Amino acid sequence: MSSNSQKPRLTQTNEAGPPPHHDSNANTKDNIDAPPASNRIPALSHRMKHDKSILALAVSPKNIFAGTQGGEILVYSLNTYERRRVIQAHKGSVLGLCLPKDEALLFSSATDPIVNVWDTTTFLRLYSLWSTYDVGDIFCVAYSSYHKTVYLGAQNTSIQWYDLKEKDKRPRPALTSHPSERIDKFFDSAGPGGVQTPRPSLGAEGRDAVGGQGLEIDKQDIHQFAHYGYVYCMLLGQGILPDAPSEEVLVSGGGDGRILLWRIDPRGGAISHIYELEDGREEGESILSLAHDGSFLYSGRFDGEVNVWDLETRQLVRSLKTNIGDVLSLSLGGGFLFAGGIIGLVQKFNEHYETVTTFKAHDGLILASTFTTYDDKPIFVTGGNDNTIVIWDVQDCADSVPKTKRSNNDLMVESLTEFVSFRTVSSLPKYRADCRRGASFLRSVFQNFGAATEMLNTAEPYNPIVFAKFRGNPTTTALRKKILFYGHYDVIAAENEHGKWKHDPFTLTGEGGYLYGRGISDNKGPIIAATYAAHELANEQLLGSDILFLIEGEEESGSRGFAQAIKANKELIGDVDWILLANSYWLDDHVPCLTYGLRGVIHATVQIESRHPDLHSGVDGSALLDEPLKDLVMLLSKLTGSHGKVLIPGFYDPILRLTDDERHLYDEITETLLRGNPDLGDAEALAQSLMRRWREASLTIHRFQTSGPDNSTIIPRLARASISFRLVPNQESSEIAKSLQSFLHSEFDKLDSKNKLKVAIDHQAEPWLGDYTNEIFQTLESAIMSVWGPTLGRRRSSVHAPKSDLSHLTSAISRSRPAPTTSNTLASSSVEPDTELLDPTMVARKPLYIREGGSIPSIRFLEKEFGAPAAHLPCGQASDSAHLDNERLRLVNLYNSKMIFKKVFEELPKC
Ligand code: BES
Ligand code: MN
Repeated sequence: MSSNSQKPRLTQTNEAGPPPHHDSNANTKDNIDAPPASNRIPALSHRMKHDKSILALAVSPKNIFAGTQGGEILVYSLNTYERRRVIQAHKGSVLGLCLPKDEALLFSSATDPIVNVWDTTTFLRLYSLWSTYDVGDIFCVAYSSYHKTVYLGAQNTSIQWYDLKEKDKRPRPALTSHPSERIDKFFDSAGPGGVQTPRPSLGAEGRDAVGGQGLEIDKQDIHQFAHYGYVYCMLLGQGILPDAPSEEVLVSGGGDGRILLWRIDPRGGAISHIYELEDGREEGESILSLAHDGSFLYSGRFDGEVNVWDLETRQLVRSLKTNIGDVLSLSLGGGFLFAGGIIGLVQKFNEHYETVTTFKAHDGLILASTFTTYDDKPIFVTGGNDNTIVIWDVQDCADSVPKTKRSNNDLMVESLTEFVSFRTVSSLPKYRADCRRGASFLRSVFQNFGAATEMLNTAEPYNPIVFAKFRGNPTTTALRKKILFYGHYDVIAAENEHGKWKHDPFTLTGEGGYLYGRGISDNKGPIIAATYAAHELANEQLLGSDILFLIEGEEESGSRGFAQAIKANKELIGDVDWILLANSYWLDDHVPCLTYGLRGVIHATVQIESRHPDLHSGVDGSALLDEPLKDLVMLLSKLTGSHGKVLIPGFYDPILRLTDDERHLYDEITETLLRGNPDLGDAEALAQSLMRRWREASLTIHRFQTSGPDNSTIIPRLARASISFRLVPNQESSEIAKSLQSFLHSEFDKLDSKNKLKVAIDHQAEPWLGDYTNEIFQTLESAIMSVWGPTLGRRRSSVHAPKSDLSHLTSAISRSRPAPTTSNTLASSSVEPDTELLDPTMVARKPLYIREGGSIPSIRFLEKEFGAPAAHLPCGQASDSAHLDNERLRLVNLYNSKMIFKKVFEELPKC
C-alpha cells in the first residue's frame, strides 16, 4: 500500500481499542516481503464459543473483554485464547464496553441500567453508577482520562456524566435510588403484543454481589434530549477539532441520524454542543457505530450505509453503500476499515474506500468488533448473536509483519496446520502417498531450521523414518551429549463417516483455546513443539548438545520396519545419551505429569479352519461335526478364568512387585486427584484401579470374523479372532508370544478336533519402565515446575466446580477417556485458570509421576539398541481424545511443552 497517499492511513482503532502499537514508518522495507495487498479474506484463526450473544468487545494488550446478553463480561487471553474470567457484571445485557488508553479501568454499560467501572488487574468492581432518572437501556459509555469523567448515552435520548474526581465529596446515594429498586412506567411497560422485554432475573445475591462504591449521577450532570432519538454510540478522544488537536472531544451518534460533537468543560465535565456533522439530508438513518482516524470520522448507519466525514472541513466525503445490512460495528486497523453488519457479513474497505472483500463472519448478527495487534500480528475480532467471538488473522495488512518476524508460537501453529493437513494414516494403503508427502514436509521443516536430515527407508511397503540432527555448539564438543527425540508422524484414520467431528479432521481448527485435528496430540503437536525448541535454542546459540530426531511413520501400526531400519542406520545415527519422547497425556486436565512406564502389547490372530466348505446347519449340522467357530470359542475360553485372569502357565511370574517408593507415588496421585474432586471416593480403590491399568497385564478379545454369507443357517468353514495382551514390565513379549502359541496348541489338541489351528503374532511391543530418579526425569521435573509454575493445585471455587473437571477425574477410575468438553459451557465461575492472579497459597508443585496403559513399541527397543535411558513427557490433557473423534491439543499445552523441551535440551547436557 502506498505510504504517500493523501487518504487517511486507517490505522487507528475505534473507541474501544487500545492505541496502535506499531511504528507507521518502520515497515516500508519489510512491506517488500509482506503479502501483496489483495482481496484475501482474513483467515479465521480462532473461535470462542459461549452460551449467550456477544454484544460488546474491547481489547487490552493481553486480553479480550466481551460483554454478553447475560450480563457477563468474559475475559479471554490474547495469547492462548483461554477464558480467564467470567464476571457477572450486570443484571441486564451488556451493551457497551470502553477501555480507555491507560487500560487501568474498564467501563461497562447495560440494560440494568447501570455503568460499572472495573479494575483491569483485579477484575473487581470499583464503582457502580446510575442516574437519578429512568434512562432505559444504556447503549454506550465513554471516558475522558484527562477529565476523569464518565459519559453514558441512553435510550431516553440523554447523555449523562459523572466526574470521578468528585466521587468522595458527593453524598452517598440512597438505597432506594438504585435502578433495581424502581419499576419504570415507560421502559418496563409491556411493548407491542403485551410482551415485556426479557431481562435476566436478579440473582439471589442481590445487587451488591460484586462490590464497589455506588455513585449517583447528579441532576445537573444530565443533558436531556441530546438527540431526538436513542443515543446509540459515542467516542471520545483527541485530534477531533483541527484547531485544538489536543482537546478531548465527545462525539455521539443517535437514532435521529445525527452526529454531534461536544466540548467538555474542564470543571465538572459538562458537555456543550460544538457542531453537528451534516450531509444536507433532512432525516438520515440512525447512526449505529462510530470510528475515528486522524482527521476522518466514520459512521455506520441503519440500512447499511457507511459515511466518511472530513473533520477539517466538516464535510461528508464519501457515502459507501454496503450490502451487509445495518452497520452495527465499525473498526479501523491495518490499513483497512471493517464494517460489521446485521446479516453476519463483514465488508472490508481499503484506504481508497474500495471494497476489498466481504466475508461471512457469523451465523447471525455481528454485534461488535475491534482491532488490535498482538505479538506484532494484526488481528480483527468480531462478536455476534451466534454466541461466538472470532479472531481473524488479517494477513494482508499494510502494517502486517513478514513471516520472518512472526512470533515462533504463531509459526508453530502454521507449521502444524500444514503438518495436520497430510493424511498420514499408516493403516490404510490408500494413504501411502499422503504419508510420504507428510514425511517430506516434516523433513523440510527440519531442513529450514538448519538441521542435517535424512530419509531412512524401511522395508517395502512401509513408511520412511525422518531423521534430523541439530548440531550443538562446536566449542563445547568435549561435553557434547546427544539427546534423541523419538516420535511418529502417522495417525489413526479419521474418515468422519458419521460426521462426528466438529470440523474437518485434517483442517486444523482453533476453538476455545484448543486446536482440533487428527494427530494434533498423537503425535504431531509434540513433535513440532520439540522441533521448534531445538531450532530456537540453536538460533539463540544455546544448543550445547546434539539433538537427534527419529520420527517414524508406522507407530500406529506397530512400528513395522522400524527396528530393522534403525539397525541398518546405526552408524549414521551415532551414539545416544538420552532418549526423550512425548506421546501420552496427563491424568486429568490440570496437573502436569511425567510418564515412567508403559505397557507392552501383543496382537495375535487365532484362526480355526475346517476341511469342509461353508455348510448349512439344517442339512449338515450334527453333533459329530467339528465346527470351527465352536472350536474357537472353546479354545479362547481356556485363556482366561473369572475376572479376566490369564491362565497361560507362568504368565504372571516375571511381573515386578510393588516397591515402597512406587507405592508412595500412588499416594501422591490419589491425594492430588481427591483434592481436585473429593467425590472420587476411596483413595485405596482409586490407587488399585490405576495399578490395574498400569502395572497389571490384561487380555482383550477384539473381534470375531467368519467365512460365508452372513445368515443364521451357515456353519462357517473358517473362524478367526483378533486378540491382544497388554504386558507389563519384565514380561518379555517374545516369551509371552511363545507361551501363547504353545498353550493354544496344547489346549486345541485336547479338543481332539478335525480342524486346523493357526496362531499368528501380528505385532508386539515390549513394556517399558523408566528410572524416574535419573537425571533426565529430574531435569524434566524442574523444567515443568518452572514453566507451568504455581497454577498447579489452584484453589477452585467449591460452589462452581466445573462439570468437566468431574468427568476428567472420574476417568481415572472408569478407564475411559472423557469426551472433550468445551470449557465455554461451564457455569459462571468467577475464577478460572489464570497465571496472573495467583492465590498466595499456591506453590509450584511437582508433576505427578505416572505410568500408562498404552504402548509404544519402539521405546524399549531404542533403549536397548543405544544403551540409553528414556523418559516420557506427556504434553496433552486427559481430554485430548487421541484416536477418537475431535482429537485436540490445548494451545497453552503446545506453547508450554515447547518451553519445557527448550529447558531440557539446554540443561540436560550440564548434568
Ligand atoms: N500414544 C499412544 C500410546 C499411548 C496410549 C500412551 C495411551 C498413553 C496412553 C500410541 O500412539 C499408540 O496408539 N500406541 C498403540 C500401539 C500399538 C499400535 C502397537 C497402542 O497403545 O495401542
Ligand atoms: Mn496413537
